[in-house]
Amino acid sequence: MSIARKRVVVLISGRGSNMNALIEATGDPAYPAEIVGVIADKADAKGLSVAAARAIETMAITRADHADKAAMDEALDAKLTELRADIVCLAGYMRLLSPAFTEKWAGRLINIHPSLLPLFKGLDTHERALQAGMRIHGCSVHFVTAEMDGGPIIAQAAVPILPDDDPDTLGARVLGVEHQLYPLALRLVAEGKARMENGRAVLSGVSAEGSLLSPGSASEAVDIESLARMTP
Ligand code: GRF
Repeated sequence: MSIARKRVVVLISGRGSNMNALIEATGDPAYPAEIVGVIADKADAKGLSVAAARAIETMAITRADHADKAAMDEALDAKLTELRADIVCLAGYMRLLSPAFTEKWAGRLINIHPSLLPLFKGLDTHERALQAGMRIHGCSVHFVTAEMDGGPIIAQAAVPILPDDDPDTLGARVLGVEHQLYPLALRLVAEGKARMENGRAVLSGVSAEGSLLSPGSASEAVDIESLARMTP
């Protein structure tokens, strides 16, 4: 008997290239999760039309439509419950979720961040990595807690920083590995191989390199201009 695939809802704010990477990965019937919905906090988020074109249920839950932040998070929670979400993936979702929400979805809520956490939480990570003189940079997928970009780390991918890099070239290199790392990390969570226990990420049944992508195995950069054109 085949094991039921986990039901995943992706939350976005913008173009949704990571969402798209998850849609591609979950298109394989052997992948342990399926995308059952995409929700944006902006009605004009480009990723919504990308998902809709793939026949995925989409909707916008915006701050403007709700009296306050708590009401918005409640509406989000209600929709996730209606969609029977097992796992929620934040993919460029630019809002901080309330502690009540992160508490309720703890262990089932994951995010991708474009730095090797705990370095460079927040915005402008590529610029800050360059300014700091880093020689490597990368991205992390982590369980979401109330602390922004502060939850336990599930998986990370590293890329080299090259002498001529600027924030755009470095960002494109990182984005290329984000698209590989997020499906890898979601798979670990969906298979129960990455769990959040007592505020830590616990990995089991994973090889030594199982939650790592290294420069040698993941060096595809993404062409930023083609991404900007990424509309169906
Ligand atoms: C990605 O760099 C992600 O790590 C960050 O926001 C960006 C979203 O890009 N959280 P996209 O919408 O997935 O293309």
